[in-house]
Amino acid sequence: KSPNIVKICEVGPRDGLQNIQSTIQTDVKLDLITRLQKVGLTTIELTSIVSPRAIPQLADCQDVLRDTHVKDSIADSRFQLPVLVPNVKGLEIALQHHVREVAVFVSATEGFSRANINCSVQEGIGRAKEVISLALKAGIQVRGYVSAIFEDPYTGPTPQSAVLHAVQQLLQAGCYEISLGDTLGVGSPYNVRSLITYLKSHAIPVDRLAGHFHDTYGQAVANVWEAYRCGLTTFDSSVAGLGGCPFAPGAKGNVATEDLVYMFHNAGINTGVDIEKLVETGNWISGQLGKSNSSRAGVALAVK
Ligand code: HMG
Ligand code: MG
Repeated sequence: KSPNIVKICEVGPRDGLQNIQSTIQTDVKLDLITRLQKVGLTTIELTSIVSPRAIPQLADCQDVLRDTHVKDSIADSRFQLPVLVPNVKGLEIALQHHVREVAVFVSATEGFSRANINCSVQEGIGRAKEVISLALKAGIQVRGYVSAIFEDPYTGPTPQSAVLHAVQQLLQAGCYEISLGDTLGVGSPYNVRSLITYLKSHAIPVDRLAGHFHDTYGQAVANVWEAYRCGLTTFDSSVAGLGGCPFAPGAKGNVATEDLVYMFHNAGINTGVDIEKLVETGNWISGQLGKSNSSRAGVALAVK
């Protein structure tokens, strides 16, 4: 029997904002985090500590982490607030802000690895392992991402064995969970089932996997459902369907949190989220960014 509760990792403040060109004021980012907490989301990726040349939008990451409310929330065990870091430098800054969780990220494929973090897959895994080892020594937990699980923007289709290799390496190094990233948003439910079945058949425990689906081809909600049917119970999503990566050209946002919550609630599956307040937050942040809301459920429920 499939479980009747799922966990959402809200990545709006990080993945959601990182590829937006116009500068977003730090106060808006802080307001977004607070609103997401009030909606009932308890796992929220706060920001990333990466090269400000790579991701100018999140250059204020330390201002976010210095905010009093964010500091209190980081210390509050009801919340899980990971921060994305690419290397030891990022980890050291994160530790200065007393974060209790970081997320590391590698690509399954060479092209995206080079474009995103300027090194090969194996070098990226090596860097991630260094971060994981130091983070565990410092007593904080580490989540891992494996990107380009179905296709790489530069080198084409991804062999399943490449995903397996990266997942195995990050799990062995001590990540508590690996989020499978369809960075380009090209996969469909058939691909999702095929990859998860393959990983399971190579002894990857399904309860250590999460799904991170971008919605370029409109498949993201269906992919979440299929992954759930395959046994996954943790999913990344962004309010208002924000999201994208400057090094994955053409990719659209993450699956919208509103769409995911609507889908699960209709199936009697608990998310802990107040959908009405979530819809309000999605419309609020879309207004702040001057963008139309990419969540279909968010738009439909707002006029209901
Ligand atoms: P590099 O140029 O090879 O490395 O970049 P470097 O060590 O020479 O550093 C370059 C500059 O960045 C230096 O500054 C460093 O100090 C600084 P300069 O001396 O030139 O003034 N720097 C840093 N600054 C702040 N925090 C740091 C840090 N590290 C170095 N941690 C590097 C290599 C990895 C740093 C760079 O390529 C980078 O930051 N990449 C991150 C790109 C990124 O954030 N992409 C988006 C997130 S991944 C994603 O979206 C996918 C995901 O959502 C899942 C999915 O969808 O699949 C997770
Ligand atoms: Mg992403």
